[in-house]
Amino acid sequence: MTMPSRLTITQPDDWHVHLRSGELLATVLPFSARHFGRAIVMPNLQPPIVTSAQAQAYRAEIQALLPNDSSFTPLMTLYLTEQTNKADVKAGFEAGMVSAVKLYPAGATTNSDAGVRDLEKVYPVLETMEAIGMPLLMHGEVVDPSVDIFDREAVFIETKLIPLRAHFPKLKIVFEHLTTQQGVDYVQSCAENTAATITPHHLVINRNAMLVGGIRPHYYCLPVAKRESHRLALRKAATSGDKRFFLGTDSAPHLDHAKQSACGCAGIFNVANTLAVLAQVFEQENALDKLEGFVSLHGAAFYGLAPNPRRLTLERSATAQAIPERVKLSQGELTSFDPMMPVYWSVNA
Ligand code: NCD
Ligand code: ZN
Repeated sequence: MTMPSRLTITQPDDWHVHLRSGELLATVLPFSARHFGRAIVMPNLQPPIVTSAQAQAYRAEIQALLPNDSSFTPLMTLYLTEQTNKADVKAGFEAGMVSAVKLYPAGATTNSDAGVRDLEKVYPVLETMEAIGMPLLMHGEVVDPSVDIFDREAVFIETKLIPLRAHFPKLKIVFEHLTTQQGVDYVQSCAENTAATITPHHLVINRNAMLVGGIRPHYYCLPVAKRESHRLALRKAATSGDKRFFLGTDSAPHLDHAKQSACGCAGIFNVANTLAVLAQVFEQENALDKLEGFVSLHGAAFYGLAPNPRRLTLERSATAQAIPERVKLSQGELTSFDPMMPVYWSVNA
């Protein structure tokens, strides 16, 4: 088979992104808006977005920064707390203001202190969501200090997710940023109301990227990259055509000084080259015909939305693309994900 040098697909969506607020939002938003039709916007601001009114205000902040001719649509989420009001969740969803609710186990990641400690406390909210068909997005890691960080996703499945799923068989659940073989196996064992997002970086790096030859903070994110066998399982799932797996970049920008520190923040800023990197990954797996499903179709179908009307073209050139440049802000710089492999694909402007 000869390698195609052009690929035109339905415009993609990003089903998990951190857009932040203020200057950081203004800086990173154009990278999402130029390629993606829609994005599920994470609510872990400081303070977190916990009510529909806050989601509405945050959406307005995002929309005010978009050029008039932009078709980019931010889809808002609520940060689930033990105090979340189920009537507010329902009203926000039914008004089309809020698309999903995000569950962060308290302490699991950046700005998750207000998250859930006791899952049973949020059962009334989950019952409402199950009844109205509103997706629950999960950060699937336990926070028990006795559990090794590399095992936290697998232990979460056994101790939290399986019981939760049994209690709410009809709830739509997205297991966010899957990083393990166990996660892939779990999602594949479920009916169609369970899905998972996968990031570009977890398809490209394993934990060596972070730790071999020096400690490399720009490859540190949560859930942390695992060993090679897990990366291979994720690549197989993403390129399989299985509708339960779709793109969530988990692009999570932090300024360099916050990452390059004695206690560096978790998060990889990857939206500048997400689609180019993914095209390269799918080419390596001889699965370019599966790219459109993963980036443009499966997620929309899970959320009950039509695919984007626009198209996007990727082109393959003979020479590798440069790594995206660092982005300058008033308080510091932002480093883009370097996939440490030649990337011949780029999005046609
Ligand atoms: C995210 C962030 O910085 O907000 N960090 C990350 O490593 N992915 C939080 C998250 O999604 O866990
Ligand atoms: Zn995230």
